[in-house]
Amino acid sequence: MANDDIFKKIIAHCKEYGFIFPSSEIYDGLGAVYDYGQNGAELKNNIKQYWWKAMVQMNENIVGIDSAIFMHPRIWEASGHVAAFHDPLIDNKDSKKRYRADQLIEEQLQKIEDKIEKEVEKAAARFGDKFDERLFRETNPRVTENVAKYNELKNRFVKALENEDLAEIKQVIIDNNIVCPVSGTANWTDVRQFNLMFSTQLGSVSEETNTIYLRPETAQGIFVNYLNVQKTGRMKIPFGIAQIGKAFRNEIVARQWIMRMREFEQMEMQFFIRPGSEMEWYEYWKEKRIKWHKALDMGDENYRFHDHDKLAHYANAAADIEFRFPIGFKEVEGIHSRTNFDLGNHEKFSGKKIQYFDPDTNEGYTPYVIETSIGVDRMFFTIIANAYTEEKVEREGSAKEDRIVLKLPPALAPVKLAVLPLTKKDSLPEKAREIMDRLKFDFNCQYEEKDSIGRRYRRQDAIGTPFCITIDHQSLADNTVTIRYRDSMEQERVSIDRLPQIMDEKVSMRKLLEKL
Ligand code: GAP
Repeated sequence: MANDDIFKKIIAHCKEYGFIFPSSEIYDGLGAVYDYGQNGAELKNNIKQYWWKAMVQMNENIVGIDSAIFMHPRIWEASGHVAAFHDPLIDNKDSKKRYRADQLIEEQLQKIEDKIEKEVEKAAARFGDKFDERLFRETNPRVTENVAKYNELKNRFVKALENEDLAEIKQVIIDNNIVCPVSGTANWTDVRQFNLMFSTQLGSVSEETNTIYLRPETAQGIFVNYLNVQKTGRMKIPFGIAQIGKAFRNEIVARQWIMRMREFEQMEMQFFIRPGSEMEWYEYWKEKRIKWHKALDMGDENYRFHDHDKLAHYANAAADIEFRFPIGFKEVEGIHSRTNFDLGNHEKFSGKKIQYFDPDTNEGYTPYVIETSIGVDRMFFTIIANAYTEEKVEREGSAKEDRIVLKLPPALAPVKLAVLPLTKKDSLPEKAREIMDRLKFDFNCQYEEKDSIGRRYRRQDAIGTPFCITIDHQSLADNTVTIRYRDSMEQERVSIDRLPQIMDEKVSMRKLLEKL
């Protein structure tokens, strides 16, 4: 199945099973804004809990806060967002479609890279064990020609971005025959910058001074609370402040579902360190964060680091953790070395002294910062994309049938177990309710008695419930039930008294955290 088809199926599945709905759907939706349904909200909360526990609970020197979305407008001047938080925008005059100019060029680079990799793959298949990949890459004329093309385009592109040379960005697009995917023409407007921050008015008087912004990142709420937290928590450097919250960006091209939204959620941590130690901590956090992702067992080969070509206005080193989505490798998280840019500027703009006196070295300084910043929604997408599975399964006495199952990490699944009386009579529902009443304090359980047991299993598979407990007539006689495992579909008979312990072993977040 083409990857595009899988992507569409995932979106449809998420809507059908209460994970993600287009926002304001009965009014035909709102561009790039989405609502999380009953199962989506549970999964999202579990992702946030996994992150929060891994950051705040597992690190003695990291604390969490929850700052307001609205902040003083000067904050966004100090942070550089008013002057520099923009994307280069270009329109195609024929299709009237709008694009991010940098993304058009990045897609062109990706096409060249794909051509190179295809050549290598073909040769590897042809030569088998004798294939010398390094020699082939260095000597094959088609590969070397494309590598040269790639490097030339990339160098020109990075230079144009660094110099913010909008005319040159347009020229790169024209020289490389990049056309609009809709009209197929290169009839482009000039490239112009577009600030991504949403603004609104504070209070009832519409004056310039009352213009405030919806935060485009949660990080600034941490920076402006640095002094408060450091003092009240008596924190010693190195220490971190973590936060989960909404962020807003008026994205030019908002597409690819929850990949690029105008309202989204971030989980950010700013780690305050001594100047000069930033590269050491940068590497430390890169390793820590990739470990957090890999602990979910979604295939180590599905992750890679990507070093930034163009650094954000605040960074001196930056890398993304990319995940292999059905739409290719894309950024999920960024790890940034932000120097003392933010605290230094807040000191300047606010006039308040933001210094740390280091008792170990007897010196005062503006702390440097390593940031880890991950989008909750993109993380959600990695998990759903990895979990979505279509299978042909055997049914006893009948032909193979299709099943769609979400193979979610059990600790993150919206519903941990379904409690299913085999029939609606003979006191089986009452027995099932007893089990629910015992387990519901610790696990999100769902009770279902409608339809055949097979259909109920399929419904639970579709929302990724790892365990189904079936209560039958034997349960009344010997106090046992069957557990049916989502992935293997195997069943096991166990005593009801053992259920809390079994469930705890299988779905506890502790198991994930122990891997970190
Ligand atoms: N404080 C640094 C910062 O905001 P970023 O790379 O712009 O860095 C961090 O954003 C993460 O936020 C990204 O890796 C991505 O997961 C998420 N993110 C950014 N823009 C997004 C959008 N429009 N929709 C969904 N997630 C987004």
